[in-house]
Amino acid sequence: MTDILIAPSVLSADFGHLDRDVRLAEEGGADWIHVDVMDGRFVPNLTIGPAVTRAIRRATDLPLDVHLMIESPERLIPAFVEAGADRVTVHQETCPHLHRVVTQIREAGAHPGVAVNPGTPVGTVRDVLPFIDLVLIMTVNPGFGGQEFIATSNRKIAEAKEMIEDSGRAGEIRIQVDGGIDPSTAPSVVVEGASVLVAGSAVYRAQGGPEIAIPELRSAAERALASPTLR
Ligand code: DX5
Ligand code: ZN
Repeated sequence: MTDILIAPSVLSADFGHLDRDVRLAEEGGADWIHVDVMDGRFVPNLTIGPAVTRAIRRATDLPLDVHLMIESPERLIPAFVEAGADRVTVHQETCPHLHRVVTQIREAGAHPGVAVNPGTPVGTVRDVLPFIDLVLIMTVNPGFGGQEFIATSNRKIAEAKEMIEDSGRAGEIRIQVDGGIDPSTAPSVVVEGASVLVAGSAVYRAQGGPEIAIPELRSAAERALASPTLR
């Protein structure tokens, strides 16, 4: 599975013009819309809840990729799926009963994913690989947009890829990266095996906006995959 998907994070959009900014991402060729949900406890910031997710749902037909950076996510999974989430990713660090939570997401009708923070070994998701569709390698500590990519993440992406191949579900589980992804960091992550790139500042803060930035990000990633010297 080497096709690259771009998932702009609306965390860096103008919240006063959310539907316009979601449409701009769609017009720029976004594949998914990434919705960052933060609770002020698991991460030191508060953002979007089910009501705003529903408003984003009305603005686009693209899949909504909801990233739950919240404690006890099981309490809110039904509300986010009801609001229009197609994919729901929870953090390994917030789920002592991870298998139960990813099964809950699947039964609610969404694609389950599991995220790991930079300090969490990726091997902690090995036992739920039969039950999920996505592994999210955080390439910054979650909480804010605009942080610097942590370069040691590349080794971790390679490890995730190997683990997924061993599980026999390489065609079904995607590796997503989130944090500090731009045309300069995208080449290394895709070469290691990431195929879904979340980008906030690189899409919404770039000159020319999403319509220029999304194709630029995609072509930086695709060029790297096509280049024999990088692989
Ligand atoms: C980080 C969020 C990210 C964030 C990425 O806590 O999960 O999705 O919006 O922003 P950039 O691309 O600016 O690092
Ligand atoms: Zn995110």
